[in-house]
Amino acid sequence: MNPNKAVAAGSATLMYQNKSFELPVLAGTEGPNVVDIRKLYGESDLFTYDPGFTSTASCESDITFIDGDRGILLYRGYSIDDLAEHSNFLEVCFLLLYGNLPEKAEMQRFHKAITHHTMVHEQLASFFHGFRRDAHPMAIMCGVVGALSAFYHDSTDINDPHQREIASHRLIAKIPTLAAMAYKYSIGQPFVYPLNHLGYTENFLRMTFAVPAEDYKVNPVLAKALDTIFILHADHEQNASTSTVRLAGSSGANPFACIAAGIACLWGPAHGGANEAALRMLEEIGSVDHIPEYIRRAKDKDDPFRLMGFGHRVYKNYDPRAKAMQQQCHAVLDELGVHDDPLLKVAMELERIALQDEYFIDKKLYPNIDFYSGITLKALGFPTSMFTALFALARTVGWIAQWKEMLEDPELKIGRPRQLYTGASRRDYLPLNQR
Ligand code: CMC
Repeated sequence: MNPNKAVAAGSATLMYQNKSFELPVLAGTEGPNVVDIRKLYGESDLFTYDPGFTSTASCESDITFIDGDRGILLYRGYSIDDLAEHSNFLEVCFLLLYGNLPEKAEMQRFHKAITHHTMVHEQLASFFHGFRRDAHPMAIMCGVVGALSAFYHDSTDINDPHQREIASHRLIAKIPTLAAMAYKYSIGQPFVYPLNHLGYTENFLRMTFAVPAEDYKVNPVLAKALDTIFILHADHEQNASTSTVRLAGSSGANPFACIAAGIACLWGPAHGGANEAALRMLEEIGSVDHIPEYIRRAKDKDDPFRLMGFGHRVYKNYDPRAKAMQQQCHAVLDELGVHDDPLLKVAMELERIALQDEYFIDKKLYPNIDFYSGITLKALGFPTSMFTALFALARTVGWIAQWKEMLEDPELKIGRPRQLYTGASRRDYLPLNQR
């Protein structure tokens, strides 16, 4: 439970039709205070209106903090730069789930608990065989992750803390196995079983790229880069997919179904699908000479084209994840001896030009994490269609931490937004022959 519960910080007055309504203001540990409108409707018969939740806090949380103006991202108080440099993904998983960095024995136990669950029920393989070979890995992930609830009945009782814990471990442990299987299936290669003496990310790389006919040695520089990418994607407070997981979970749905809902939401190009879209855009631009044309299109109101990997709902400054991502991009290309990658050239020049352009300056549009992740993942050997599946793999821990936090909140209520109705008022039904 959150020891830093929100505290009272005064009140705000709303005047409407000569009546005044006193609304409590609450303060958290960081970030803007919030106006508590929970009793507003009952007292005033007014709803608030905020499509897209641009000014609405949907929950109280002590997991992740973002200061979009200053470009700060903290997991449980630790800065993303620190974690990216010094930690590893599994340790970050522990941190997000349990609130603190683990002590040595805790880490050993956690590592064992996760590696203990990396295999999936053998019958799940049949699910894969039901998909077309050219199915998008995210289509497969939505299906097979949801299907976990049909296999692990002993961890779907959300009211049992032990079952919640087991489900959390299972999801974190099995998602790399499922993502690797989705990839293997798409290229017609046999599934590679997990090897539990390997680290989390090394294991995933092996399940993805090894073939039974050859030895596979994990390159530590590439494993470190991918592990860092996982850290950078692990959580991001109440983004669209996390809010989807919370909303699904608020009805009491089981954790596997909730994470499948999060995966579905993440798939969209405005969210997790942006890394794929950003790489396709860089490929489409093709060369530095074409950049001005694409900048012009991005600024044209009548053209739906946007610079993918640019802009963010919350960051109105450089996305702090993008900095670490850019470093890993260079590390991977150096390790692979790629010194003149044409896509990297286009990306760096596009970034330079956009950051000097008044349109992007005025709207505070900076590169986000997805701008460099596509180039890095491509260099690591992943096809574009796998990019969002990798994001889902990494974000699973964030979704679960948020889902657990929500269930442990004594104030949990089913999520049920209201609306501003603008449709027809009541009218009488006319039978078909009288219309
Ligand atoms: N290229 C050109 N113009 C842009 C862009 C862009 N990438 N992003 C925003 N704008 C403009 C937009 O046209 C609007 O202009 P105006 O005020 O004149 O109408 C203004 O900036 C504000 O945009 P918005 O769509 O109202 O902002 P939002 O907060 O609703 O959207 C966003 C945020 C991330 C969906 C948007 O910036 C975008 O579509 N970016 C490209 C997709 C992308 O890279 N997504 C990955 C986000 S990071 C990964 C994640 O967390 O999921």
